[in-house]
Order: sequence, then C-alpha cells, then structure tokens
Amino acid sequence: MTERDPRGDPASALLAVDALSVDYGPVRAVDGVSFTVRRGQTLGLVGESGSGKSTAVLGALRLLPAPGVVTGGSVRLAGAELLDLDAAGLRNIWGAQVALVPQGALSSLNPVLRVLDHFAETFTAHGVKPEGGVRACAAALLSRVGLDPVHLDSYPHALSGGMRQRVTIALGLALNPPLLVLDEPTTALDVVVERDILRQLLAAQDASGFAMVFITHDVALLLELASAIAVMYAGRLVERAPSEVLAADGALHPYTRGLLAALPPSPGEARLPVSIPGHAASVADPPSGCRFHPRCASAIDRCRTEAPALRVAGPDHVVACHVVELGVSSPKPGAP
Ligand SMILES: Nc1ncnc2c1ncn2[C@@H]1O[C@H](COP(=O)(O)OP(=O)(O)OP(=O)(O)O)[C@@H](O)[C@H]1O
Ligand code: SF4
Ligand SMILES: [Mg+2]
Repeated sequence: MTERDPRGDPASALLAVDALSVDYGPVRAVDGVSFTVRRGQTLGLVGESGSGKSTAVLGALRLLPAPGVVTGGSVRLAGAELLDLDAAGLRNIWGAQVALVPQGALSSLNPVLRVLDHFAETFTAHGVKPEGGVRACAAALLSRVGLDPVHLDSYPHALSGGMRQRVTIALGLALNPPLLVLDEPTTALDVVVERDILRQLLAAQDASGFAMVFITHDVALLLELASAIAVMYAGRLVERAPSEVLAADGALHPYTRGLLAALPPSPGEARLPVSIPGHAASVADPPSGCRFHPRCASAIDRCRTEAPALRVAGPDHVVACHVVELGVSSPKPGAP
C-alpha cells in the first residue's frame, strides 16, 4: 500500500485533529496525535491509564486546565480551527458544536446547584430559550437518558453515580451538538447500569445523528460501540482502524494485538486471555525509539532507537510499527 495521508480524510471530517501535542511543563503528555471523526460516527479512544487520552481531548477542545499547554498541531471542527479561537469564539462552540462529558461525573456537577439549574445555566450561556420552557426541555432530556425528571429538583449529592452520569450526558445533549465527547462515562458504574446508559446513549444517537468520541479502557466495549478505534500508548497514537477490522483479527500493532489477546474469550472461543507483560511506559520518562519496545516480543534493534511513523495499512487503517509489513501477506507480529 502506498503511503498517503495517514491522518484519515480531514476534508470530509467533522473533527480533524492533526499532529496534536500537549505539554505539562517539561513533560510531553500527547505527542503528535492525529485522528478524525466523521458526522454521525463513533470513534473509540483506548489506552492504558496515563497514555494521554483525557489530555488529548481536553487539549483538542481547548478545555485543558493549567499547567497543560497545547504546543503544536491543528484541531478543525466543522472547518473552524479551534486552536485559533478566542474566548468568545470558544464559548459559542462549547455545548453547541461540541459537548464534553468529562471524566468523573460528580466533580463536573456543581454541588450547590440543583439538576434543573445546571440545564438553565447551559441554556442561558448560549442565549437559548427552549420551546415549552427550561423545565420541560430538561425533563425530556433526562427521560431520554433514562432518568426520572423528578430528579430535576435534586442536588448532585443526592444522586447515585449512575444518576449523576445520566445527568452529565443529558447536559451534553442539551444544545443538540453534532459532536459529543465522553471521557470514560461508564467506568465507575456497575455493568447493569453501564449497559442501560449505553443503550440510552445509542438510542439518542440514532435519533439525533451526533458523532461521538468515546474514551475507555474497555476495548471489548468499543468493538461493539465504535465504528473506528484509535489506540494510544504513552502519549502517541499507535494504531487506528475500523472496529470490524480489529474484531476480525486485523489488528497489526503488537500493543493493539496485546489488548485484544487480554480480553476474556467469547463463548465457544478456544483461547485463554494473555496479559501484556510489564508496565505501561510513563510519558514523563518514555523509552527511546518505539515507546512500546520494552514490552514487545517483536522488537528489533531499530525499535530501540527510531520512533516508528504512522503508515497506511488499509482503508481508514494506520499503524506505527517498524515490523509490520504492509501490502504483503506476511504473518502479523505476535501479541507481546
Ligand atoms: N495536571 C497535570 N500536571 C502534570 N501532569 C499531568 C497532569 N494531568 C495529567 N498529567 C500527566 O499526563 C499524562 C496523561 O494523563 P491523562 O490523564 O491524559 O491520561 P489518561 O489516558 O486519560 O489516563 P486515565 O485512563 O487514567 O484517565 C499522565 O502521565 C499524567 O500523569
Ligand atoms: S515491533 Fe518495534 S516498532 Fe513495532 S511495536 Fe514492537 S517495538 Fe514497536
Ligand atoms: Mg483520562
């Protein structure tokens, strides 16, 4: 396969993140990450804790708190360069063009405001007067995510974790944005609540057609939920591929293959889960060359000195690995 634009197709993308870098002081937490999201698409972003998932989306959306600084790249949302927008421009975009459901639902809700007040604030900030009034509109939004509108008059501390997460998702949907970014929205919840929230979220997506960036550690969940999956390791993107390619044993990067090999087997599948050896590399002191090399059974000398570039492996499929041979029918590198 010839090397063409390994970033996807930014021209047709709703969100096009290109070579984004984010620093915390001397530490580069996100190093040249690129991905695109098309209208209505769900992109999954996966990687171990500390790999830079939250930093990448907060940086891209200009929501990164100090000391985080975006030090390079481009982020185009429906053609507008977010990295060039001033505070007024950003206020117009947040909520209306893109909404973030941040990691940790409790801390994202104001403890002294009732649920209803959170909706009122969101509408007021954008000068929106919902038809039928704020209460009716907020009640409909809560119902849409499976929460009884009786909770509009509750304070956040009176709600369970699952209820608070439903409130944050309903707030994200309030202005009907074309893009919803969800940072580990169900990680802290039990599996029954998680499944129910996901069902409601997908029903809302079917009804409204918004695109999603869905961050999680759970690759199995993304294989069901996302049309494409981007895999991060120690601040870098290592592979991005359509979910069906990964589900059909088409993952090429040894780290992606390791994540998939660590999943519990499906019913009737004759294999045991194998975990990736070693510990996740730290972005504060990353290994030289390919950051995955200390854990990779396929590593060659070159891997220790030279960072692999992203290469095109197929339609919407890119991979950063020296050993993967593209365009020939060779065995894939093993999981580590
Ligand atoms: N405020 C901060 N100051 C300094 N370093 C930070 C700060 N926030 C995050 N980092 C570092 O940046 C790196 C990426 O963190 P980030 O929270 O983006 O990872 P993540 O992939 O979202 O992890 P998790 O799955 O645990 O949420 C980590 O090494 C983290 O220690
Ligand atoms: S083979 Fe080399 S480049 Fe590929 S993942 Fe392993 S260490 Fe990295
Ligand atoms: Mg995070």
